[in-house]
Amino acid sequence: MDIIAKDHEYIAATYDRFPLRIVRGKGALVYDEQGNEYIDLGSGIAVNSFGVSDDEWVDAVTEQLKTCQHTSNLFYSDPCVLLAEKLCEISGMKKVFFSNSGAEANECAIKAARKYAAAKYGAERYNIITLKNSFHGRTITTLAATGQETFHTDYRPLTPGFIYVEVGDLNEVVEQAKTGRVAAVMFELIQGEGGVLPLPQEFVSGISQVAAEYGLLMIVDEVQTGCGRTGEYFAYKNYGITPDIVTLAKGLGGGLPIGATLLGEKVQDVFTPGSHGSTFGGNPVVCAGALNILSRINKNLLDKVKEKSDYIMKELRGAPGILGVTGMGLMIGIETSKPAAEVIRRCREMGVIVIKAKNKVRLLPPLNIPDDLLKKAVAVIKAACAE
Ligand SMILES: Cc1ncc(COP(=O)(O)O)c(C=O)c1O
Repeated sequence: MDIIAKDHEYIAATYDRFPLRIVRGKGALVYDEQGNEYIDLGSGIAVNSFGVSDDEWVDAVTEQLKTCQHTSNLFYSDPCVLLAEKLCEISGMKKVFFSNSGAEANECAIKAARKYAAAKYGAERYNIITLKNSFHGRTITTLAATGQETFHTDYRPLTPGFIYVEVGDLNEVVEQAKTGRVAAVMFELIQGEGGVLPLPQEFVSGISQVAAEYGLLMIVDEVQTGCGRTGEYFAYKNYGITPDIVTLAKGLGGGLPIGATLLGEKVQDVFTPGSHGSTFGGNPVVCAGALNILSRINKNLLDKVKEKSDYIMKELRGAPGILGVTGMGLMIGIETSKPAAEVIRRCREMGVIVIKAKNKVRLLPPLNIPDDLLKKAVAVIKAACAE
C-alpha cells in the first residue's frame, strides 16, 4: 500500500490534504517523491521561518540534541531561559510561559487573564471579548474563543465566558466593558485563518483606550503574525499598542513545536508554582532552534521582509484575475476571480505551493525567500489567476 492510501487508512481524517507527498526540501524549495521541485510559499503555515532544513537552525537543534534533549521543568535549563530573555528583550514583556502550540499559548493567556482579573476584581469578572471571524485554536477553550460558528458545531458545550464582537464595533466593546464582568479583550491583528484581514488601526487604538479606561487586559494573538512575519518583530508594533499578553507559536520554532505566552507588567507575577505547567514546554532542543531563529530576525531582515512584501503587492494588485490583495509583510491574502482552490491547484501544477484562507489564496513564504525564487513564484501566481 502506498503512503497516501496508508494515510487514509491509519490517520484520523481531519485534514483535506493536497495530493502531494513532500519528502524533502532546502530553504524555499521542496520536492516530492519523484523529485519534482516546488517553490514553497506556505512555509508549513507560517512555521518554517527560514524555510526547510535551514543549515544554521539545523546546527543549533542538532547541537542541543547531542547535548541534552529534555530535562523536564523540574530543573533549570539554559536554552529556555536564554530564549525567554531574548523574547522579553525584543517585546518589552516581562516573563514567558512556554508550551507546545498556538492553542496552548492562548490557553495560558486566557488562564492568566482570568486569574489576574479574579484576584483583582472578583470571581465574576471572567469574560473574554474576542472578535467575530477570529481563530484562536482547536482545544475546547480556544475553540470557544474562536469567533466562528462553523468551528463550534459538534463540540458543545464549549467553555463559557466568551463574548464575540464584530470587527469595528467599538461601542459593543464599551458596552461589554461597562458590565464589569470582562477580564480581557483578545484578538489577532491580522485575522489569518479568517482570510488575512488586518484590523483597522482606529479600531485597535480604540480597543487599547477602552482597555485602559475599564481595566481590561489586552491579549494579542500573534501565533501567525509574530516573529518577523509582518515586517516587524510583532504585528502589534505596526499598530503602536502595548499588549498585556502576547501569544506566539508557529514561526518562533522554525519547524519544531513551541508555544510562548509573553506576560507584561500587570500579569508578570500571576502564575505561582503549580498554577500552570507543561511537560514539554521549554524543551531545550526546541528552544535552541527558536533562539537561533530569533537571533536572525533583525532590522536588516525585517526591512527585506517589507521590500519583498512591497514587491508582491505591487505585482499582484490590479493584475488580471486578481480582485484584491490584503495583508502585511509576508502574510498575504489574494482574492481571485476564479475559486481559490482552482488557482492553488494550477499554481501547484506549475511548481508553486500556495495555500488557502477562507475564500482567498494565502501566501506565507519563508522570511528569507531569495528574490529570484519569489519573482518566479509571483509570475506563476499571476499566470494562474489570469488563465
Ligand atoms: C492566530 C492563531 N492562533 C492560534 C492558532 C492555533 O495554533 P496551533 O495550531 O499551533 O494550536 C492558529 C493556527 O492557525 C492561529 O493562526
